Amino acid sequence: MSAVKSERATASKRTSTSEQASAFEYAQEPEQTPVLEVRDVTKTFDTPDAHIVACNHVSLSINQGQSLALVGESGSGKSTLARMITGLLAPDSGSIKILDQQVVGAKRAQLREIYRHVQMVFQNPVESFNPRRTLGASIIDAAANVGVSKAEARSRVPELLSEVGLPAEYALRYPSQVSGGECQRAAIARAMMFDPELIICDEATSALDVLVQAQIIDLINDLRKRRGMSLLFICHDLAVARAVSDDVAVMLGGRIVECGKSLQIIGHASHPYTQLMEASVFPTTPDADWKIPTIAEQNQNSGCPFYSRCAEGDVRCARECPALKQIGQQDEHHFVACWKR
Ligand SMILES: Nc1ncnc2c1ncn2[C@@H]1O[C@H](COP(=O)(O)OP(=O)(O)OP(=O)(O)O)[C@@H](O)[C@H]1O
Ligand code: SF4
Ligand SMILES: [Mg+2]
Repeated sequence: MSAVKSERATASKRTSTSEQASAFEYAQEPEQTPVLEVRDVTKTFDTPDAHIVACNHVSLSINQGQSLALVGESGSGKSTLARMITGLLAPDSGSIKILDQQVVGAKRAQLREIYRHVQMVFQNPVESFNPRRTLGASIIDAAANVGVSKAEARSRVPELLSEVGLPAEYALRYPSQVSGGECQRAAIARAMMFDPELIICDEATSALDVLVQAQIIDLINDLRKRRGMSLLFICHDLAVARAVSDDVAVMLGGRIVECGKSLQIIGHASHPYTQLMEASVFPTTPDADWKIPTIAEQNQNSGCPFYSRCAEGDVRCARECPALKQIGQQDEHHFVACWKR
């Protein structure tokens, strides 16, 4: 089982649905090894006009071979978390481990080692390649960056392209000479070079049309099964999340507000924010009444980050921020941060 993980000692004491759970409160079978373990991570940004808490005491974990979808509206903190997991950004506090190696504070050489275990696929495949290098050359460059010899990398390019459904000749094409979907396949091939234990897809299908998106999702699912990889899949869309994930964590204003098994949550969401996402009624016009508050606005009060948009909010919601707590049956592992659940 892959999951937002709990401190086991606390989990074993959990007895009722109303009992407060810490952000780590998500049961995990003790014999399973987390590939990724994010614990109590916070990241703030100070800009001239705002203090932004982009990630606010976020905890999650993913076990070997499992997948977790991290879903949330724009600006909820998903990419900030992904950047911290891959060592591109340092958290203010908290711990991030990939296969027991601490990412926070890792030196360059340690990060190179870590990048053999975790690879990222981004939203805009064309932009993720150097326009002046062929796809094959870029794949070889990426391998060299983490210490794989160019000869070894070159010899693996045809096999990797074939694994993602591209003919070997595509190694000689430039990013501008392939479609967005083909370019994303090449980006996935590049990520597969090291046989990573964990792949992070940050909006990897969002820029593609629906049909190509479905093909890339199939490819990711297929690779994951064949290689036994774990997956952190970041997206806006719960339907896409369900297609790729065992578990789901819903992010709002830098916090995880609902998490658990995708099959149990998606379609049966409990948090008003997740329900709103399910109903696909997020505003599409700049109507002031419906405007999504910025994360800085959501951070402004000490209450629930969804308060300004919630039909169920009351005085307590405005004042105090709810922590994740388990709801439903003990073995359902369904957690929600809402005073009314
Ligand atoms: N380097 C930075 N400096 C200042 N603010 C930042 C920085 N990086 C991110 N932010 C802010 O942190 C918040 C979270 O941003 P993030 O990119 O993590 O959101 P996201 O969930 O990935 O959104 P999207 O779905 O649009 O990609 C946003 O308000 C963003 O403006
Ligand atoms: S805590 Fe209150 S404001 Fe927040 S989602 Fe629950 S009911 Fe709505
Ligand atoms: Mg993002």
